[in-house]
Formats: sequence, C-alpha cells, structure tokens
Amino acid sequence: MGEPYEAIRITDRVYWVGAIDWAIRDFHGYSTDRGTTYNAYLIKADTITLVDTVKAGFSDQLMSRIRSVVDPSEIDLIISNHSEMDHTGSLIPVIDAVSPSRVLASKMGVKALGLHFGKTGVEPVDDGDTLDLGGESVTFYETRMIHWPDSMFTYLHGDKLLFSQDGFGMHLASSERFADEIPDCILDREAAKYYANILLPFSPMVKKALSRVQGLGLELEFICPDHGPVWRGEAERITGDYVRWAEQAPTGKAVIVYDTMWGSTAKMANAVADGLGAAEREAVVLPLRASTRSDVATEVLEAGALIVGTPTLNNQMFPTLGDTLTYLKGLKPKNLVGAAFGSYGWSGEGAKHAYAVLEEMGLEMAVEAKDIVTSNYVPDDDVLRACRKLGTDIGEMLPKPQPA
Ligand code: FEO
Repeated sequence: MGEPYEAIRITDRVYWVGAIDWAIRDFHGYSTDRGTTYNAYLIKADTITLVDTVKAGFSDQLMSRIRSVVDPSEIDLIISNHSEMDHTGSLIPVIDAVSPSRVLASKMGVKALGLHFGKTGVEPVDDGDTLDLGGESVTFYETRMIHWPDSMFTYLHGDKLLFSQDGFGMHLASSERFADEIPDCILDREAAKYYANILLPFSPMVKKALSRVQGLGLELEFICPDHGPVWRGEAERITGDYVRWAEQAPTGKAVIVYDTMWGSTAKMANAVADGLGAAEREAVVLPLRASTRSDVATEVLEAGALIVGTPTLNNQMFPTLGDTLTYLKGLKPKNLVGAAFGSYGWSGEGAKHAYAVLEEMGLEMAVEAKDIVTSNYVPDDDVLRACRKLGTDIGEMLPKPQPA
C-alpha cells in the first residue's frame, strides 16, 4: 500500500512535501478566499534535507509525502527559513519524529523559535554561509522583514533554486504545484493580494533583497515559496511584479471605499466615481458591507488615490471604515492622493475623523479639511455635483492611463 499523500517532484533532487489547506478563509485577518498551502521541500542530496515544515494540524500530510520518497529517519538536516507558526507549528513534532543531526535557522530565527517553543537545539547560520550537502550546496541569505525579522532565503546552487519562504508566495490552494499550470488571472490577483496584505509595509526591504539577488547574479530557474505554487522558468514574472509593487508608483486608478447607513453616503460615492469617469480615470468602488479589508488593500496596491466615505455614527466614523483604515495605516501605502466625504444627521464628525487618519497616513489630501464634502441627511443635487467635482479634480491629479 502506498502513502495517502505523495511528494511532487520539482527537480531531480527536490520534492514538494507540503500541505494543502483548502478550507482556511481567514489567515490572521487576511481573507483567504481560495485557501492556502503550507509548502515544505525535501532535498535528496547526500545530506537529506527538509526545508521548512507546516502549520500544526497538517503534519500528517507532510510526513506522508516525505515517506513517499524517503524514510523520514534518513533526514539529516532541517532548515527553518521562517519562524511564523504556519511554517513551524509542526517543527517540534517533526524534529521528534525525524531526529535530524542538525536544525538550522538564522540568528533571529533561533531567537524567535526559542520564544515560541522553548529550548529547541536549533543552531544559527550567518548571512552568506554556504553549507555542503554532499555533491550539492546551499547558501543562506538573511531577508529581514520578508516577512519577519528572522526570515531568510536558502539558495540551492546546483538546481538554481531559491527557497523563498513568504517571498513570492500567495495564499492559493490548488491541485497544481507550478504557477505555469494556473490561469494568469488567478495568479496575478492572488500574488498581488499577498504582497499588498503581507509585504507592502516592508517594501524598502523587498527592494534591498531584489537588488542583492541581482547583484549576486543568482540565477533563478525555480522559486519555491512557502505558500502557493512554485515558479519554474519564469522567475522574472514574479520578481518583475515585486519591483513594481515595491516602487508603489501612482496610477490612474482611484479606490473609493465607503459604508452607508441609509444610502446617502452610497449616493455620494457613486457621484465621486462618476466624476473620476468624467476625468477618464478608473474608479474602483468598494462598499464595505461587501468587501473585506484584504480586498481594499489589494486594490490600493496599484492605485493613485484612496477616497473614503462614511456616515457619522455616534460622533464617529462608521466602524467598518475604522477597521479598514487601521489596517491600511499599518500597511503604509505610499504615493496616494486622499479624500474623505460622508453624510451625517446632526453632528458630522465621521468624515473629519476619516480625513485625519488619511492625513496621518501621509496621503496628499486633495482638499483642505474645511472643504470636506458632507451631506446633512440625504444628498441633494448640489451635494452630488460637489461629489462629482471631487472625483474629477482627483482624477486630474492622477496620471493618465496609457493606451493598451
Ligand atoms: Fe507564511 Fe510569515 O508566514
């Protein structure tokens, strides 16, 4: 009888031995509409090596896939590229089951693993250390804040293969293991969503890591991330995306995010979108009752403006917008024009509070705070014309779309 789960061959000596989580829909607040994978890889060199493990609860899949290729007791080395628990939740049980000679992580990784799991016996490697696996070698590169301070890449020289942990990954459960087997529209969306929601605040470190890889002249035939599919023979596709996303150059797209109680702020949002259309700029309208904070972050990634609408509820902005702005503020988007608008019954602080948060986030505000467009109860034609003008004025501040 074979194993219930099998390893997938990546190269002659590297196998995917990870786990597929079809069911997860909330990854620490990130809406994972298509599930995810926790990738781990086995290197069948003289020193049989396991690169990363999987989230707790998925070690049966990992061990079964390993057993389909080697006896787990033959694993001599475990490399932990990233200590977040989606990759280390099963590390200690796997160490206990396998009894490897060595377990390696970055210095910060050793510290973080100790803080998670107590005494682990994990040994530190230095940035740039190379390790002979017997006829094959790997080099470790610290990639702090991609995604945590402990993160590192491991490069397998013979196969020109980069184990990139969270970098170049995406939350996507699929039967296919290679990116070139998955429709472009899904890859593009999920890779962008992952960057926007996980890596955006660390864009300066992403730029540094990309320049370093380029400066070292590392050839990338395969990129093996810890989530989603493996990139084979098209590394520049995802590295090119990362260069663009890390740059955060403004585009001709404006994202309008709003919530509404009785439809007044919704009418205002529609008029702002109309104004953007009149300026021949793209409007993406996201009502917060039907859009997650992760959707908003994904659209903001390649936008030129963020325009938020809120009613006033008990002297505050609407709570869904408060949630979204708290989240976006942490993601530190750059190079955006900002504006706020909204309806109110009797006091009207909501849009002012939202405006203040956008200012704190460093957005270039399209109008002064005293000129925020508001509507006392239901917007009349004058208010809607003011909203439309706001959209047009912001549109004219954005780059014109390039003809396709
Ligand atoms: Fe996939 Fe930062 O862990």
